[in-house]
Amino acid sequence: MNGEQYFERSPSSTESGKTFDWNLDGRTLRVDTAGGVFSRRGLDDGTEFLIDRAATPPIHGVALDLGCGWGALAIALATRAPELRVWAVDVNERAVALTEQNAARNGLGNITAVLADQMPSEVTFDVIWSNPPIRIGKQQLHDLLATWLSRLSVRGVAWLVVSRHLGADSLTTWLAEQGWICERVGSRHGYRLLRVSRS
Ligand SMILES: C[S@@+](CC[C@H](N)C(=O)[O-])C[C@H]1O[C@@H](n2cnc3c(N)ncnc32)[C@H](O)[C@@H]1O
Repeated sequence: MNGEQYFERSPSSTESGKTFDWNLDGRTLRVDTAGGVFSRRGLDDGTEFLIDRAATPPIHGVALDLGCGWGALAIALATRAPELRVWAVDVNERAVALTEQNAARNGLGNITAVLADQMPSEVTFDVIWSNPPIRIGKQQLHDLLATWLSRLSVRGVAWLVVSRHLGADSLTTWLAEQGWICERVGSRHGYRLLRVSRS
């Protein structure tokens, strides 16, 4: 990406993405990736770990894919729970457009993708799935998580996947210090899966 980060608002990358078939729970989904959007190579290992190990999403209610990239987590949520209202947010315009495109291509009318600053402020979430943007910096990451976790419903649960090398354990400590119940529920290929709730 020529030094450009995947969390630019308007990426200038001209690298090509790819189209691939993704087998999710026995269903074949066809999705596009793009240059300047995470993950251009396809399904990220950490993202796949979250999808494999997180609890089944609620049948009804509202979900959030925080930092959607091309939409992997929103697509998994929406496929597993067709009546769940799934919001996908990102700061990257190309990511938001690609998530909308991938949702439409796979007939997932329950996904709405928006830029993070366009998310209606009154919406709260029963479940949040995120492979959060660790590379934005520690303070920015803390601010991001504080903002969106505060919108969990009373019994809402957030599932976060974080690389151990990028600070999963210190993030777990910080979340606990902020009053969240934060459990490490699994570890695979250097990724930690965290379950975060109010109680
Ligand atoms: C590690 S990627 C995960 C992408 C996708 N969810 C996946 O699992 O493949 C993190 C994403 O967070 C986005 N992001 C960065 N800063 C953000 C912010 N302040 N608000 C929302 N999304 C942000 C990035 O643009 C990127 O798409």
